[in-house]
Amino acid sequence: MNESTIILNAKGVEKRFTQGDASIEVLDGVDLSLAAGERVAIVGRSGSGKSSLLHVLAGLDDVNRGQITLAEEPMAPASNDARTALRRKHMGFVYQHHHLLPEFSALENVALPLRLNGASQPIAEQQSQELLSRIGLGDRLQHLPSELSGGERQRVAVARALIHQPKLVLADEPTGNLDTASAAELMALMVELSESKAVAFLVVTHDPSMLYQFDRVLTLVDGKLQAISAHDDA
Ligand SMILES: Nc1ncnc2c1ncn2[C@@H]1O[C@H](COP(=O)(O)OP(=O)(O)OP(=O)(O)O)[C@@H](O)[C@H]1O
Ligand SMILES: [Mg+2]
Repeated sequence: MNESTIILNAKGVEKRFTQGDASIEVLDGVDLSLAAGERVAIVGRSGSGKSSLLHVLAGLDDVNRGQITLAEEPMAPASNDARTALRRKHMGFVYQHHHLLPEFSALENVALPLRLNGASQPIAEQQSQELLSRIGLGDRLQHLPSELSGGERQRVAVARALIHQPKLVLADEPTGNLDTASAAELMALMVELSESKAVAFLVVTHDPSMLYQFDRVLTLVDGKLQAISAHDDA
């Protein structure tokens, strides 16, 4: 796959939430194309629809209208099973609120995507241990999520998103709970993976100090994505 390969393509994506008589138009015709190895940030006001956008791009939620492809295969419209299979194969997802499995250790949480893709337990655990050690959690392998700090949980969630070597990672404020040094380390890991393995990253962030490390910065306004310069204040 070369750098100009389109890994994610979204066209005319609309998403609304209906509650009783009220309907909120959260996404109102979003177009987005992401190349292999590209790093794109999304900024925008609270409630502007950033998490909703990541969820529909990941096939975690339905669209009301529009098409999404991941690695040239349909993510929307597509059946739930097809979306799950596509996500497992090509995508890592970091939720705004980590969503780790509470009964599973850090190691087991990270190993799970490999196990679901058919890796044996020793191999899955060895690779997970290596990645967790790399992000400074080598001595927290057996901790349950409830026994980890907020920042540690967030790093485990990032490791879980990266472990199966996806082509695309969608991350919802992955550095939100981290101190400056840990956030910078995580950003450096993302830069390295995008440059050495052509992993594309689409990252929601409120951290202005990170933005210069992205190829593009987009903002969500009135349900549409707009480009802004990486060096503007967000
Ligand atoms: N399941 C839902 N049902 C109804 N409304 C929802 C639902 N999920 C989100 N919304 C509404 O859609 C809008 C966008 O929410 P979303 O979580 O995408 O915003 P966000 O940009 O991620 O905000 P933040 O920066 O606070 O995380 C909000 O007004 C929210 O209240
Ligand atoms: Mg959000």
